[in-house]
Amino acid sequence: MNTPDTPQPRPGTGELPAGRPLQTDFGTGLDYPRLGSVTFRRGTLTENQETLFDEHWPRLGKVLTQDTDDVIDIDAWFGRAGHPTIVEIGSGTGTSTAAMAPLEADTNIVAVELYKPGLAKLLGAVVRGGIDNVRMVRGDGVEVLARMFAPESLDGVRIFFPDPWPKARHHKRRIVQSGTLNLIATRLKPGGVLHVATDHADYAEWIDELVHVEPQLEYKGWPWEDAPLLTDRQVITKFEGKGLDKDHVIREYLWEKK
Ligand SMILES: C[S@@+](CC[C@H](N)C(=O)[O-])C[C@H]1O[C@@H](n2cnc3c(N)ncnc32)[C@H](O)[C@@H]1O
Repeated sequence: MNTPDTPQPRPGTGELPAGRPLQTDFGTGLDYPRLGSVTFRRGTLTENQETLFDEHWPRLGKVLTQDTDDVIDIDAWFGRAGHPTIVEIGSGTGTSTAAMAPLEADTNIVAVELYKPGLAKLLGAVVRGGIDNVRMVRGDGVEVLARMFAPESLDGVRIFFPDPWPKARHHKRRIVQSGTLNLIATRLKPGGVLHVATDHADYAEWIDELVHVEPQLEYKGWPWEDAPLLTDRQVITKFEGKGLDKDHVIREYLWEKK
């Protein structure tokens, strides 16, 4: 479906605009990292998914555009006030998002993803399952956090099996890096939780070196028995399954915003 805020191809190029047009310090005083070529990922929807999108996306989804500057009114979007809110970045097909949501029905879940068919799958699961605590944003999770969520507005941020970018020259595109950790820290409320999982050994080593890099995030390790949010994905995610098929070890990381 093409809404007025659907990114349009650049004239003459057929390319969609990059998902991260702005590079500001988001008020943190820190230089903010460029993740590189993060763009909307295309994909084809089935006819059923198109119909579902047309009917339900306007209520349950938003698209980040280059001129999105409005911070989301979380209470208005979820139609209820004062509930905790978690943002999941890179929800993929939303397998774990849909499985976890009913177990945290008091919590608002915002799934952020670049890949429209993934969002369509999650939208289908949400509609068919009568799940009313999940909303979706299509866009680069870093920029969505920076521009669509107010400082200290979130109780949790989840990043499950982020793209590993295995080549050294692409490491700068990894979503877990010091600038992103700083941004996430600014969006979490004190006591809020960041949860990251990866099956990629080299990415895990990379994260190991970053666990104490952000002074506002206290590293809690794994497991954290009294974590204030659900840390069990309930089902194996699509990419977790792919990793397990290759005998990869799953590593999990939890931090608390000070
Ligand atoms: C390896 S997949 C993991 C998906 C899912 N979490 C899982 O475990 O099956 C990584 C996902 O993150 C999405 N992604 C990558 N960079 C992103 C970004 N900057 N913002 C939002 N989503 C992103 C990709 O489109 C992809 O679906």
